[in-house]
Amino acid sequence: MNIRIGIIGSGAMGRGIAQLFASAGHQVWLHDSRPEAIDQALQFNRELLERSVAKGRMTAETLEAVVARMQPAHRLDELAGCDLLIEAIVEDLEAKQRLFAELERLVSVEAILATNTSSLSVTRIASACAHPERVAGFHFFNPVPLMKLVEVVRGERTAAMVVDRLVQLAEHAGHFPAVTPDTPGFIVNHAGRAYGTEAQRILSEGIATPEQIDRILRDGPGFRMGPFELFDLTGLDISHAVMESVHDQFYQDPRYTPSYLAAQRVAAGLLGRKTGQGYYRYESGQQLRSP
Ligand code: NAI
Repeated sequence: MNIRIGIIGSGAMGRGIAQLFASAGHQVWLHDSRPEAIDQALQFNRELLERSVAKGRMTAETLEAVVARMQPAHRLDELAGCDLLIEAIVEDLEAKQRLFAELERLVSVEAILATNTSSLSVTRIASACAHPERVAGFHFFNPVPLMKLVEVVRGERTAAMVVDRLVQLAEHAGHFPAVTPDTPGFIVNHAGRAYGTEAQRILSEGIATPEQIDRILRDGPGFRMGPFELFDLTGLDISHAVMESVHDQFYQDPRYTPSYLAAQRVAAGLLGRKTGQGYYRYESGQQLRSP
């Protein structure tokens, strides 16, 4: 069952996917166009696992074994022998299409190419490939080891065998796969748009603050996080790009109009937790008041 998995993009999602599959016994290689991102991801994962050891949830031997299964790949061609390639780079269609075309030239004909895109059309990404039937969406959620859902997205030309394989791999890693068709935002980011965009509208109309809205949605309907906490965790660069993408793919349906509040923050580099400020401010990872 254990396979070789190449992950391209070693940011928040790539490192989480690496940890998940290394913990499930697979050999994992992490690649990034920024070499320092690979080292940071490996270091981050080690520290996370060390916390599990400190809490008695994992033995030191298991930690070393999991860490040993995660390796850096400084060049893309080091992924040539992988059975599954999972892309988690920037949410940009052309960048993903370029990468998939390049990967297809490197890997064997049996290798599966998966994208962790939140909102781009899997079918369009696959259109850059000579074998689009090997391409599918494998949409994880942040933080990957904790968020058990993964959408397995069936592009228009994805082979049934590829979907089945991803479902098996997700289940084997202890995740819950939901097979979805390749529609804008799939299911989670289609249904979730209302949650995010309406919350931003309430804020822009001065009806309530981020704290109030987050608290109401946590304590009322019982969401684990309010929309502004979630925006800051995801990163506004990512979530705003998702909103724009879903809006475009629905032919500018006004129901999905993104918020200028997010656009302004992205322009200012206030992306959320990763930059220390988004809808809230953060110090040493701790959430402070909204600015
Ligand atoms: P991130 O910004 O944390 O990491 C992206 C990494 O990709 C960076 O380290 C960057 O240097 C690297 N990169 C960019 N272009 C590259 C290329 N051409 N080749 C190799 N490396 C490249 O982003 P994050 O949050 O990990 O998101 C990655 C993907 O996952 C996006 O498609 C996003 O929509 C999707 N996603 C993000 C979620 C989130 O909550 N952040 C949730 C689910 C999906």
